[in-house]
Amino acid sequence: MYRGLIEAYRDRLPVTDKTPVITLHEGNTPLVPAPVLSARTGADVYLKVEGANPTGSFKDRGMTMAVSKAVEEGAKAIICASTGNTSASAAAYAARAGVTCAVLVPQGKIALGKLAQALVHGAKLLQVNGNFDDCLALASKLSQDFPVSLVNSVNIFRLHGQKTASFEIVEALGDAPDIHCLPVGNAGNISAYWMGYQEDHAAGNSTRLPKMYGFQASGAAPIVTGKVVEEPSTIATAIRIGNPASWTKALDARDTSGGLIASVTDREILSAYRLLAREVGVFVELGSAASVAGLLQSAAEGKIPAGSRVVCTVTGHGLKDPEWAISTAPSPTTIQNDVLIAARELGLA
Ligand code: F0G
Repeated sequence: MYRGLIEAYRDRLPVTDKTPVITLHEGNTPLVPAPVLSARTGADVYLKVEGANPTGSFKDRGMTMAVSKAVEEGAKAIICASTGNTSASAAAYAARAGVTCAVLVPQGKIALGKLAQALVHGAKLLQVNGNFDDCLALASKLSQDFPVSLVNSVNIFRLHGQKTASFEIVEALGDAPDIHCLPVGNAGNISAYWMGYQEDHAAGNSTRLPKMYGFQASGAAPIVTGKVVEEPSTIATAIRIGNPASWTKALDARDTSGGLIASVTDREILSAYRLLAREVGVFVELGSAASVAGLLQSAAEGKIPAGSRVVCTVTGHGLKDPEWAISTAPSPTTIQNDVLIAARELGLA
């Protein structure tokens, strides 16, 4: 039986027999071929569907590690800043561990589903009059001055948990892909994947290393422009970040792998979001669609060699943001309980 990623990769994670394993059986997510994207790009494209994790995003991989280690170290409370998913995950794993969870989110800038998750799992949630970067600075300060353990991706255990996605991909494909596309926000995940691919390669499990392609939203693209963005703005609230904590690590992943970090517009993100939902059958949140938007943009620019094997991580489930989903979809028609009317409305008669 699969028992979560700590048990699956115990020998490759910084845990010991004394580490209490706090798990919701995260990881082991589907790697789904995407023929529609392959046809569009001339590559062989797969999606790593991280919305299939217990709280609906890749954050659970990092959180099982961060919360297990925090509990091992005697923490009674954890804290995080979040654009939504980290808080949902932290709240769930804290509930599982029986510790308190504090959450700082930018007021009015997180998707409704994520807010609901944090609240339902019992987190103490504060909406801060500021952006994610302000929330992270505040959370860091609180963890320095008070007895509360920080579980943002500046916590190295988070990255170790998240690197296991690379292990799963190498196992599923029999080798590393040629190119790996990811959305980039605080830049922890691209750093974690790169760590995973490098470790797998050093262990002899893969014959090659992928080029890491990261994509930021154009209104929140500090790594692309080389400058902190004071007021980041994008419809993809998950990656609305102006000063990524793992900036240097992401540059290393880009440069050592021979990859790139580019920006995609909100329009490109939205178009990838719709394409994924309507033609691939995978419902992701807007931030997640940035990886696929980036793939399509890179293909158009000739940066995806024909026949190469590409994995795009889609980081979070579309249901996280029902308000956005509903607002962009056509409104449903209401009818009388009548077969002929129904048939007519459905275009069957
Ligand atoms: N995709 C989603 C759905 C996210 O929630 C995030 C980050 C990212 C991509 C970017 O990953 O930060 O490691 O580069 N969400 C964080 C949060 C910041 O608070 O939930 P990253």
